[in-house]
Amino acid sequence: MAAEQDTRMVSGDPSALEGDDPSLRPVRLDDFVGQRDMRANLRVFVEAARGRREAMDHVLFHGPPGLGKTTLAHIVARELGVGFRGTSGPVIARAGDLAAILTNLQPREVLFIDEIHRLNPAVEELLYPAMEDYQLDLVIGEGPAARSVRIDLPRFTLVGATTRAGLLTTPLRERFGIPLRLDFYDVDDLAVIVARAAALLKTQLSPDGAREIAARSRGTPRIASRLLRRVRDFAAVDGAVEVGAREADSALARLDVDKAGLDRMDHRYLACIAEKYGGGPVGVETIAAVLSEQRDAIEDVIEPYLVREGLVQRTPRGRMLATDGWKALGLAPPPTAPDQIELLAGGQDD
Ligand SMILES: Nc1ncnc2c1ncn2[C@@H]1O[C@H](COP(=O)(O)OP(=O)(O)OP(=O)(O)O)[C@@H](O)[C@H]1O
Ligand SMILES: [Mg+2]
Repeated sequence: MAAEQDTRMVSGDPSALEGDDPSLRPVRLDDFVGQRDMRANLRVFVEAARGRREAMDHVLFHGPPGLGKTTLAHIVARELGVGFRGTSGPVIARAGDLAAILTNLQPREVLFIDEIHRLNPAVEELLYPAMEDYQLDLVIGEGPAARSVRIDLPRFTLVGATTRAGLLTTPLRERFGIPLRLDFYDVDDLAVIVARAAALLKTQLSPDGAREIAARSRGTPRIASRLLRRVRDFAAVDGAVEVGAREADSALARLDVDKAGLDRMDHRYLACIAEKYGGGPVGVETIAAVLSEQRDAIEDVIEPYLVREGLVQRTPRGRMLATDGWKALGLAPPPTAPDQIELLAGGQDD
């Protein structure tokens, strides 16, 4: 479908999507690995809606890129046994575009809007009554002759996805009855995902090999499947029959993925704060300018994992390298690192 095509084109860097092979995408909730609590809740809501033969309440998936938001949107439609329409925030340019999509929905269908934080305000306003009352308020004509008409819509399920729930306006966020947050995956879950992908790709991968790739995938299935492909390429050219931990390690080293799974971009980011700003604090705009990267890319793609792993801290004065951030660069942490200061002040209440 054209709209689904569009979501991929506007998702930014096309190489970021290289780990997205539709054939590797789990299609049922049972095949979806990890995110256990979220998945258990989702199953309840899906089964309840299906049992009542009603449209499920609107769902918002939020979390860093590559954790499975789009995959889950497809799964929801499939599990509900209804049709799926996909589009994305920046693609819906005018209110009329959204009206056309909404009036063409079948009852109970899933409408997926990727990057929903990037809807234009006029479009977003039209979405409020559509989500809440399944009604569309359209203004027809201009000037004194303009009149507004109200159109009833079929009951549908809006599934929104965003990397940054914080960028959603409050009225929009509050209209999602089911907000679900995806978090980075642990190594056990990623190892299962890698092993499954290897089987689908007909690649012989030992359990150790799967763990090695899993441990170095930044907690992200999309990265895991991208690294698996590259490791498989190296192994094939080197004539390895089975990919084990050693083959995986040597391939990942050649790809500049370090033991902790940090890649070249992570190192550039950490080194920028360490070398140019003595470990910070430094503002994200400054980092973006120095690295010639978009601020959004830094906040959406690079920082969430580094912050989660405790390498970087976001402070009111800017980003600061924590002890593990210095160590990741092979440098000794100075006493001014934020967690070193906490250690020194240990025991005292602030
Ligand atoms: N739990 C999972 N089990 C197996 N594979 C997964 C899982 N989650 C994601 N994947 C794989 O990772 C890839 C990326 O997932 P997906 O496109 O759904 O991420 P996303 O959260 O929508 O990312 P973005 O924010 O960049 O749009 C998919 O191709 C899918 O095959
Ligand atoms: Mg997506």
